[in-house]
Parts: sequence; C-alpha cells; structure tokens
Amino acid sequence: METPAPRTMWRLVLALLCLQLGEGLLRIPLKKGRSMREVMRENGVLESFLKGLKGDPGRKYLPSNAVAYEPLTNYLNSFYFGEISIGTPPQNFLVLFDTGSSNLWVPSTYCQTPACESHAMFNCSLSSTFSDIGVTYTLRYGFGDLSVVLGSDTVTIQNIVVKNQEFGLSLDEPSNPFYYLDFDGILGMAYPGVGISGYNTLIQNMMQQNQLTEPIFSFYYSRNPTYNYGGEVILGGVDPQLYTGEVLWTPVVQEIYWKIGIEEFSIGPSATGWCSQGCHGIVDTGTFLLTIPGQFMSTFLQQLGAEESDDGYIVDCSSVPSMPTLYFAISGAQLSLPPSVYVLNNDGVCNVGVESTYVSSTNGQPLWILGNVFLRQYYSIFDIANNRVGFALSA
Ligand SMILES: *[C@@H]1O[C@H](CO)[C@@H](O)[C@H](O)[C@H]1NC(C)=O
Repeated sequence: METPAPRTMWRLVLALLCLQLGEGLLRIPLKKGRSMREVMRENGVLESFLKGLKGDPGRKYLPSNAVAYEPLTNYLNSFYFGEISIGTPPQNFLVLFDTGSSNLWVPSTYCQTPACESHAMFNCSLSSTFSDIGVTYTLRYGFGDLSVVLGSDTVTIQNIVVKNQEFGLSLDEPSNPFYYLDFDGILGMAYPGVGISGYNTLIQNMMQQNQLTEPIFSFYYSRNPTYNYGGEVILGGVDPQLYTGEVLWTPVVQEIYWKIGIEEFSIGPSATGWCSQGCHGIVDTGTFLLTIPGQFMSTFLQQLGAEESDDGYIVDCSSVPSMPTLYFAISGAQLSLPPSVYVLNNDGVCNVGVESTYVSSTNGQPLWILGNVFLRQYYSIFDIANNRVGFALSA
C-alpha cells in the first residue's frame, strides 16, 4: 500500500478528531457488582450485618447530629459503578456515581483498616499534582459513615480532565459495610449545598473548566445488568438510543438534592391519597431500593401481600405476575412501576425492592427516594442549567 501524502494524512487525522468531537458525549460504562449479600453470606457475616446495622436510607439527608432510626430491610443488593482516575500519573478507582451526595472521596494510604486495604488506595506521594488541604471531615451515607482528609488533585474521567479538584482521602473506613463494597469510593453529583462548604463539587468544576458539552448528565441502568455492563452515565448530554418515547421534565423543588414533587401514588387502580399534601422524591442513583415514607410502609406491604423477614419483604414468586403496578404522578404524567421491576428475584426468593425512611422533606412532606429499582425503569436526566429532572422509559 502506498504511504499517504502528508496532506492526506493530516486530513485523516482531522477527520478522526472531528468524528470524536462530533460524537460530543462522554459515555462511561458502568459495571454492576456482585451482590453485597452474596459476598457477606460467603464470609459468614450476613446475619450479624442484618441484625446489627440499624440504617435508614434517609439519614444522609439529615443535618449533622440529627438521628433517625428505622430497622434495616434490604441494602444488600449491589450498586452500579465506573472508573475514574486521580493524580499525575493517574491512579485508578472504581466509584459509585451518586446523585444523592456531593463529595468525591476515595480510599487512601492514610487509612489502614481492612476496608481500605482491600480496595485501591490513593497514595498522594506518588502524584506530582497533589496538594494537601489538611482539613478532616466525617461523611455520612445511608449505609455508614467514614472520615476523610481533604486534598486536591487532577481528576480524569475518560477525556474529561478537571484540575485542582478537592476530594476526600479516607482516614478510616469501618469494615461494615465498606469492606464488602465492590467500588472503592463515591463521586457525589448532587448540588453543592450538600457537600463540604467552601469547595467546588466535581460537577461545578467540570462546568467552570468547560469540560461539559452541555450542563447535563444522565443515567442508564440496564434492566438486565451483567458484571461487565451495568449501564452508563453520560456526562454532557443524553443518549437517545438508551430510552424510548418522550422525556417527561419535572422541576427540582429544592436545589440541594435532586428533589422533585410527587403529586399522587397509586397501587394498581387505587390512588392512595398519601401525597394529598404533596410528596417529595429524591432521585438518587446511590440508593438501591425504592424508599417509601415510613408511615405508609405497613399499609403498602399489606396491600401487596408481602411479609417481613430477615431477608427483607418477601412475596411468593408465583404471585408476582398478578401483583399491582405502582404509579407515581409526576408533573401530570403517570410513571408506572410494574411488579416485574419492583420485585427482585434473588435466586428464587422474591423480595419487594423497597425500604422505608422516617426522614421527611423540608416542610414535613412525605419523602420518597427513587433509587435504582425506579431508575432501571426510567432513564434519568439531570439538567443543571434548568434545575429539572427528566425521565424517559429505559430502552
Ligand atoms: C506511597 O508512595 C511512596 C513514594 O513512592 C512510598 O514510599 C510509600 O511506601 C507509598 N505508601 C504506601 C502505603 O504504599
């Protein structure tokens, strides 16, 4: 074959560049982990975990020092996560892309607990772009707390490069649950108000450093995830191939979390009236289950014929097809969740994929958390410039 003349070669290079730019969007493939339940069962700690940890998925939304207790139901499914890198040269981490928190943290070599040592750890001495901030914080999540010290460095996600990003280097991570998590750290994508004050979130810096094509990010969680492909997070836009039909937009009611209004909740054809004074829902990619306001939980389970057990809320698998579809009225539309979506079949044990919270919204509105169970049915779009969330039926 003839070697192309220099001019032609340049054109080729340019064409390739344009192709890449033209595509415009940054797609990060997400993995889905082995279920935490599986790993814990193998390690013989599942029972003590189920009995010992009192959790409430809403507790991370509380101001510090407030306390809310609610029995743990079912945290033990797995999350979706993807790869980022920090530092120069890059050190790689698997992180949970979490719309329910705002900080970025990864395990670090400052931490010597088994939870840290079983994950990728950031060694700041190996990065020429690292700077120490030195302030320590406790970060609170639905499934546990950890302490971090702040530093700043370059964060790279595919071809997005953010310089001088503040992030937490873990100092201490309790084994329960961090040892059992398949991902190393968490990348928060909520509003800055939730994060450590005075520091830009990664999303803010991406915008300030002109790294996003559009001030939008979106999530696709596959309904049939495998370990190697769980879905995608798309930074800077949407991928219309990953959803069908129209996008339903709904405003964010309070720019702290991605919190939206819910006008009504129905179980099959019957409206429950639970949201007659208005309900709020936090769209949270970092919560696995659908979270129901605690005061409605027992009525809800009764209507579904579910029973509480150590393994969560159980139904007979043969009854799943005849169970009611759930409907959320949002911005005048009805978003449905059929039983095939909200009931999780774990090796022949059928769990209703719900848990409850006793945390309510700002003015006492019942609070829902639209977690992965909901987000597998609906592709979700987070529009920063217009403070709105879009939902479309997942492809
Ligand atoms: C971090 O990197 C430094 C510099 O190479 C090295 O001396 C140190 O042992 C590393 N720390 C850990 C805990 O690996």
